[in-house]
Amino acid sequence: MESRNPGKAEKLMDIAIRRSFLIPSSQIYGSPAGFYDYGPVGCAIKRKLEDLWRREMLQKEGFHEIETSFILPQAVLKASGHADNFADPLVACNSCKSKFRADHLLGQLPQVKKDGVQLSGLSPSELSGLLKKYKASCPQCKKEELSDVGWFNLMFSTNIGPIEGNTGYFRPETAQGIFLDYIRIIRNYGSRLPIGIGQVGKSARNEISPRQGLIRMREFTQMELEYFFNPSDSTHPKFDSIKDQTLRFADGEGGYFEIKISEALEKGLVPNQIMAYLLWKQKMLYLAIGIPQSKFAFRKMPKEETPHYSRGNVDMEVETSYGIIETAGTAYRTDYDLSQHSKHSKADLTVFDEETKQKVLAHVVEPSMGVDRMFWCVLEHCFREKSPQKEWDWFDFPPAIAPYHAWVFPLMKKDGLDKKAREIEEKLREAGLSVYYQDSGSIGKRYARADEIGVPYCITIDYESLQNDDATIRFRNDGKQIRVKADGLAERISKYVKEGRTTAPEPA
Ligand code: ATP
Ligand code: GLY
Repeated sequence: MESRNPGKAEKLMDIAIRRSFLIPSSQIYGSPAGFYDYGPVGCAIKRKLEDLWRREMLQKEGFHEIETSFILPQAVLKASGHADNFADPLVACNSCKSKFRADHLLGQLPQVKKDGVQLSGLSPSELSGLLKKYKASCPQCKKEELSDVGWFNLMFSTNIGPIEGNTGYFRPETAQGIFLDYIRIIRNYGSRLPIGIGQVGKSARNEISPRQGLIRMREFTQMELEYFFNPSDSTHPKFDSIKDQTLRFADGEGGYFEIKISEALEKGLVPNQIMAYLLWKQKMLYLAIGIPQSKFAFRKMPKEETPHYSRGNVDMEVETSYGIIETAGTAYRTDYDLSQHSKHSKADLTVFDEETKQKVLAHVVEPSMGVDRMFWCVLEHCFREKSPQKEWDWFDFPPAIAPYHAWVFPLMKKDGLDKKAREIEEKLREAGLSVYYQDSGSIGKRYARADEIGVPYCITIDYESLQNDDATIRFRNDGKQIRVKADGLAERISKYVKEGRTTAPEPA
């Protein structure tokens, strides 16, 4: 996959802010690092990504969706291990007092890169040793006066209520709430294993050096699914239907290979059928949102990069102009979380297996996807520079995730064209389509503005429309137009969205 292109990232961020995709949070107070708001355009795309995830990962699989608390009592995160283990290595400059993530600081040194030094999973003393060996200096004041490395816990803490010492934390992952509610859901639904429970929601991590826009934020949205199963049976009922399909993997040495899913399992790249199936679902989701297969791959994580709770992790990585970034992690969490919560809360979190007549503590496979990183990848890979065919930069979003289904224009703001356009806008909205009315500027400028935020269809009302009760649909990718009766317009747009159509159909 290609290398970094910071110029492109900067340009995209500039467009994202100018065109209402993103707004740096608390901007009028100086925008603290690591926080972004989504503007109307960005928010619409983000919602569609989340809804696609819901449809593909939950609804089509018959799984449950829940919404759990963002603030959790300390006991929960003690039990999960986060209070003690969820930390990054921190180094401070003794001179200017700036603070940095030690492994990231080392990773930026040319000699460290040249030597191919493995930086993940190292202890603070090993990192301190490397900082000395490579004569690292403070990136801020350039002085060679760095402290020893220590751990910095990434959780934001707070006080719950007025009683001092009643500590709570902003959740660092949405998963914990699912583990806590799991047994209630099993009991209420009379469900047996396997069962899938997911949620979409905010998580918070007090990242030492938030950077690269949406890639490393302090508050971000996760879409997590916990697939609970009986450890005596890690088969997946749909495995046979996907076993001959392929996944693309990184080989760990800068190369990539395609491998049949059944072989990935035989070779131990994936620990079980369940994870294999869920990786396949992630691949299909990424293709559906416009990320080409050549731009993303899975990576089996080495042991030292695997979280404390996992018996096997496979990350999804995407090429971006910031470099290769992790956008999703899938972990075989075993019964780690349930057994910890069971031990600490004394609650019985087992289910009764009718066949073996035994109590079972479920194992879990968890695909954890970050919406914000996914959103950024969509911007990167759907962005098109201006060309002889189009004299402006634009976005080639698949219609299903475009910010609006259509923009509606009157050719002129007079002679009843505006009234007719408003009527059409209203009808399309009533049919459930997201549309936006625009009547300022020349028609060419309006087409350009719609393209610039990736709107797939522009509907124009001209003088002929008044006579024939119709409108033109202009297709984003080829700029061609067709005439459609006003009556069938909503159905036609819905059909095109479903088909993913971005160019005009051939005349019949
Ligand atoms: P990294 O190694 O880049 O810090 P991570 O391994 O800590 O990421 P996970 O803990 O596996 O990430 O979290 C699951 C997903 O949540 C990630 O793949 C990513 O999409 C998202 N995510 C995690 N941390 C952040 C963050 N600080 N900002 C934005 N998204 C994040
Ligand atoms: N739930 C996995 C993670 O956020 O790390």
